[in-house]
Amino acid sequence: MLPKLTPLANHLGTDVSGSIPQGEQVGVLDLTEAHRRIWELAEPHLKVRSNDAHTLYSYGIARALVDLHPDADPEVVLPAVLLHDTGWSKVPGDEVLQAIAPGGGRPDLVLRHEKEGALIAADVLAEVGADPARTARIIEIVDGHDSRREALHLDDALMKDADKLWRLTPHGVDTVMDWFGLTRDEAHRLIASRVHDHLLTDAGRTMARVLAAVASVDVMPQRIALG
Ligand SMILES: [Fe+2]
Ligand SMILES: [Fe+2]
Repeated sequence: MLPKLTPLANHLGTDVSGSIPQGEQVGVLDLTEAHRRIWELAEPHLKVRSNDAHTLYSYGIARALVDLHPDADPEVVLPAVLLHDTGWSKVPGDEVLQAIAPGGGRPDLVLRHEKEGALIAADVLAEVGADPARTARIIEIVDGHDSRREALHLDDALMKDADKLWRLTPHGVDTVMDWFGLTRDEAHRLIASRVHDHLLTDAGRTMARVLAAVASVDVMPQRIALG
């Protein structure tokens, strides 16, 4: 489901497009050329369970996290985000949601998507001619990104936080609702139980509070009454 891309009205009645700022600025981002090549090779592996859109939102969140952490290496964190869930393409489609379902889960399938993702990441990074030292670090992050509770280093922590923070976005809540047949309120409570206490950076924890506040307003009776 796409957010609204074009207006339904112009209540002002005059054209203000000439006063809209152009170019790179805070909050406006695009994939870099190198990341676009990685995305194009990763995307065919991300067509299960909305992992493609999840990956792009997590990429955007990771860009914000990297901007806030000068010691991070964006050329490790961001390719790792683009590649981290490619391994789900190797898990039978009807078992993918069992792997992460509340009240159980299939740890074996979680491990499998990490291992398969690490292999796909290696292939993609070789194809784009990525730096070998960074390739090793990216593969290390992908292999264990869900099962490993602690971060190996800052780049790993930022990738893990960006991955989890997506769930609190409007797209994340929408997606989780339909995975498990949950109301918006139920989905948000499930997500919150799996995100807030598992984040690894202060910036990630702050972002989570903001996203959770927005998600909470979405289900406020007063907000719903406004239509
Ligand atoms: Fe994953
Ligand atoms: Fe993910």
